[in-house]
Amino acid sequence: MAILPILTAPDPRLKTVSSPVDTVDDKLRQLMDDMCDTMYDAPGIGLAAIQVGVAKRVLVIDLQEEEGVRNPQFFVNPQIIWTSSEDISVYNEGCLSVPEQYAEVERPAECIVQYLDYHGKPQELSAHGLMATCLQHEMDHLDGILFVDHLSSIKRNMMIRKVKKLVKARTAE
Ligand code: NI
Repeated sequence: MAILPILTAPDPRLKTVSSPVDTVDDKLRQLMDDMCDTMYDAPGIGLAAIQVGVAKRVLVIDLQEEEGVRNPQFFVNPQIIWTSSEDISVYNEGCLSVPEQYAEVERPAECIVQYLDYHGKPQELSAHGLMATCLQHEMDHLDGILFVDHLSSIKRNMMIRKVKKLVKARTAE
């Protein structure tokens, strides 16, 4: 168990397209456990492996809907097989790699995702609400896309500048 450093924008590694995982083994589970610790420590509700510098198609999500109850869900090689193209939802998104910045992003309100779980077993999840938003946000990371990439370049650049300042100030502390 370990808390890993989280990359922040504009770190070029965040633009990496992550590679599929071959086998879900103990080494991968170690990474997933570390990602989990890192997410809870931050704290956040989702984390993609590339955010800790590992270019593998792995996510951990815990919406923490019940306070104090941990229920992490692991997604290996997730693939969206369906989205509600007409039913769109708008959510005020944030990201551990774009700290303290929030903006409204439009995404399909529902999606169906196929993936391997913590034990490498194939699973399918029909997601709506915050889970659908979070899954799509995290899956974007696997293709090198941040939520700010869905915004205008003016807004995006402003947020990246703020993050740079923030990270600089934190390092100076
Ligand atoms: Ni994110």
